[in-house]
Amino acid sequence: MKKQRIDKFISNQLLISRSEARVGIRRGQATVNGDVIRDASRLVEPQTDNVTYNGQTVGYKEYVYILINKPQGVLSASTDKSRETVVDLVPEHLKRRELSPVGRLDKDTTGLLIITDDGAFAHDIISPKKNISKSYIAGLDGDVTDEMVALFKDGVVLADGTKCKPAVLQSLSQNTARITITEGKYHQIKRMFGTVGLGVNTLHREAIGGLTLPNNLHNGDCIEMTKQQLIDSILHKNA
Ligand code: URA
Repeated sequence: MKKQRIDKFISNQLLISRSEARVGIRRGQATVNGDVIRDASRLVEPQTDNVTYNGQTVGYKEYVYILINKPQGVLSASTDKSRETVVDLVPEHLKRRELSPVGRLDKDTTGLLIITDDGAFAHDIISPKKNISKSYIAGLDGDVTDEMVALFKDGVVLADGTKCKPAVLQSLSQNTARITITEGKYHQIKRMFGTVGLGVNTLHREAIGGLTLPNNLHNGDCIEMTKQQLIDSILHKNA
């Protein structure tokens, strides 16, 4: 793996500024393989060198993968000037500079959302070509009919003429339905129901492929997962 300057490595992994890391290094707060290093330009091998800062090991993870149970009223974005975002809810020890939600849930939508700084992984999950299903529970202002189920199965044509891929619509109880899609157009589900005259009062994402929220992950809470755990869970159902 490519070597990195120690000040950059410490600043990226611990999310402190480069200048703060430099000052700490000059003061003797960093070690590499047991030796105190005061030269901020010293190169380290992130995967094999044992780096400490203030007595703590600076572990190396190339990317982080986080599941959040998104609450209502929070933006699916990395930053916003005035409104709270899902990345604001990530605990400090998991925060990274490039964290972004994988796809977007509307501000009023709740449920399963992945947050990562691994852009290639995010792209694969969102890409309609990968056919990864996303399931939602929708609270509607009317009932789902058999005609709607058939229409969604054929592929709804949205008001602007966009044709959606086939979707599975299932009535669960009065005014409540599960809908499963394999793409993620802007406000897609609300627009799909709009074509059959139904309004969406509540929307909750329950699954991405076979990945669901752990039962004990409360509204607004996050857990870290490995990439492999995520892939295994997602593909479990999609396989
Ligand atoms: N479709 C929507 O309309 N909103 C969401 O948040 C997700 C899918």
